[in-house]
Amino acid sequence: MALAPDHLNRVFFTTGGSEAVESAWKLARQYHRARGEPTRFKAIARNVAYHGTTMGALALTGVESIRSPFEPLTPGAIHVENANRYRCAFCSSGPACTLACADDIERAILREGPETVAAVFLEPVQNAGGCFTPPPGYFERVREICDRHGVLLVSDEVICAFGRLGEMFGCQRVGSTPDMVTMAKGLTSGYAPLGGVMVSDRVAEPFVDPDEMFLHGITFGGHPVSCAAAIANLDVLEGGGPPRTGHGTRGGVPCGTRDARGPADRRRHPWDGLLLRHRAGEGP
Ligand SMILES: Cc1ncc(COP(=O)(O)O)c(C=O)c1O
Repeated sequence: MALAPDHLNRVFFTTGGSEAVESAWKLARQYHRARGEPTRFKAIARNVAYHGTTMGALALTGVESIRSPFEPLTPGAIHVENANRYRCAFCSSGPACTLACADDIERAILREGPETVAAVFLEPVQNAGGCFTPPPGYFERVREICDRHGVLLVSDEVICAFGRLGEMFGCQRVGSTPDMVTMAKGLTSGYAPLGGVMVSDRVAEPFVDPDEMFLHGITFGGHPVSCAAAIANLDVLEGGGPPRTGHGTRGGVPCGTRDARGPADRRRHPWDGLLLRHRAGEGP
């Protein structure tokens, strides 16, 4: 937890990303119930976003083709516009981003009724259907909207955590202050199956009460062998051992892959933090 943003101090371990997303949605629902708001069960995610394959995570996933064979899915998943400057339904033809994509979240909350909405799930940089970076101010606006309506913000970092965006957690890179962070892949750099959901002190607070517990469990969640792999992996990440990407940011533990650290590779793969930012003039 020492590597996490200051306000995230508890973690519930899973074996992978879908379970982490599933756990975060259930946690949000039980959190609201424990605080006297049992009608908050819905969750908002974005069109085209991928959040996993289990029924709840799949319901949040905004890719129709992989959802439709399994409907009806978990009720309560609501989809809103994505943050895609190139194809934005609101302002792609305008001179500048208006953050209408963030406001679409508030529109959905108001349409559904704030008293029914538990959480909003967003990747810091969305990785399905492309690689969508958020416009400046997007996450600040989303945070304000969530706070205004008592909705929790979940940063789905199954892909974006552990250096993939150049910071240990993707939310730190994009100016997001989520109530929960879901994670998996880079936690062990893929050497062992492990995922988890980190929560803020505020979200943990109702569960610290001896009369309340998170009614959820997974046979191999937090398996000691996977945790040992995660600790070893995080030691390497923290110690500056992993390969440096084109702009000095960290990316993960090498696993027999080609070393992409040389200047020539940097010109061919001018990405920052492995996923982010194509530098003008440096492209292939
Ligand atoms: C953002 C995001 N969330 C959730 C998942 C699901 O993770 P898993 O495949 O470990 O269940 C993925 C998988 O790629 C993902 O990219």
